[in-house]
Amino acid sequence: VIVRCAGCGAEHVGWSCPQRRAGDNIDHVLVPEVDLAAPVTDEENPFLRYRRRLASYRLWREAGRDDQSFVALVSELDAAVARVAGTGFRRTRLTFFPALDEAIGARVWVKDETANVAGSHKARHLFGLLLVVAALGADGDLAIASCGNAARAAAVLAAATGRSLTAFVPPGAEMGAIATHVCSRDGEPGDPCYRRFREAVAGGAIPFSCQGPDNGFALEGASTIAWEVAEARPAGVDRVVVQVGGGALASGLARAFDPLPVFDTVQTSGAHPLERALRRLREDGVTAGEAARHRSRYMWPWEGEPRSVAGGIIDDETYDWLAVAGAMRASGGTALVADEATLVEAHRLARRTTGIDVDETGSAGLAGLLLLARAGAVAAGSEVLVLFTGAGRDRAPSPPGTPG
Ligand SMILES: Cc1ncc(COP(=O)(O)O)c(C=O)c1O
Repeated sequence: VIVRCAGCGAEHVGWSCPQRRAGDNIDHVLVPEVDLAAPVTDEENPFLRYRRRLASYRLWREAGRDDQSFVALVSELDAAVARVAGTGFRRTRLTFFPALDEAIGARVWVKDETANVAGSHKARHLFGLLLVVAALGADGDLAIASCGNAARAAAVLAAATGRSLTAFVPPGAEMGAIATHVCSRDGEPGDPCYRRFREAVAGGAIPFSCQGPDNGFALEGASTIAWEVAEARPAGVDRVVVQVGGGALASGLARAFDPLPVFDTVQTSGAHPLERALRRLREDGVTAGEAARHRSRYMWPWEGEPRSVAGGIIDDETYDWLAVAGAMRASGGTALVADEATLVEAHRLARRTTGIDVDETGSAGLAGLLLLARAGAVAAGSEVLVLFTGAGRDRAPSPPGTPG
């Protein structure tokens, strides 16, 4: 089995579950199965290094093609990305900084995604997806809903492959020369960018987006981050504090750690649908698995227009909430809600102690860790992982225009 729906159990190779029906209240997400024991190579490109764990690789091989031709595919696509973005995919830095350790009172490992393609971890999700598109020989234009970073990453990959991309973004997203459709709030519940994206997909576009229910293959690219950490820290870390918007990053990480460290998540006081869902799960006394058939009781769009200085994680809905809630329940993690002052403080602390030009969304995991440290919940001597997921505006590369 290559892909199975976490909500209804359907086995299906495709972007989204064929059983998904509006209003059926089942949490359909087609999750690629992963063999965490599959061997790793010594290549620097994570999509080569961990290829034997990727669905795209299995699909490629099942179609009778060999290892060498997959390596050639990844290498060619990576070179095309590097021509557009100035860099291809390489393992990213995992470092600690004594001044940051001191401020938190524990060893803080920082996974630095700011130098990744297009200035954030998002390109990992989408390159993983691009490999599946290639393995399946899928035709069609690409569509994405994003509040910025993912659309920038998608534009790089679209330009690299000469595909047409339609990006649905909110007003005010800084998108440079990318052709975008700006979607304003219209009084309907939920994110208008996401609703327009769903319409485009219904019209035949490839869902080239970072929401698991619309394309479960997007989760895999984020898993490569966890595998890099696991290799660099063979003894593991004690906890990971990860910022959550739509939840694909956290979901991709949670499926990749073995064993799973204490898995804490961070949302903003502007919008915390995941924290709200977890609270209700606890009140109802049900497991995340039992909730899979009662989605709307736990997850529904945030009321009102969310706002935060961490604008990359104010998704109305945590689309991939169920896997993330499961990871928090299984590991004893907490759904943290960071107020604006703490998000700003964490951002300053991050830049001052690490010198990394991270943005407020990128340092939001650290904001969660600050909350834990203040509450006395971080054991001295423990090892904690945070991800600096996005570069500051000074460093974020300006995206290319997309063809077509
Ligand atoms: C820089 C950055 N970090 C983290 C996230 C959160 O990722 P996810 O939406 O998969 O939860 C985003 C999402 O847009 C982002 O742009």
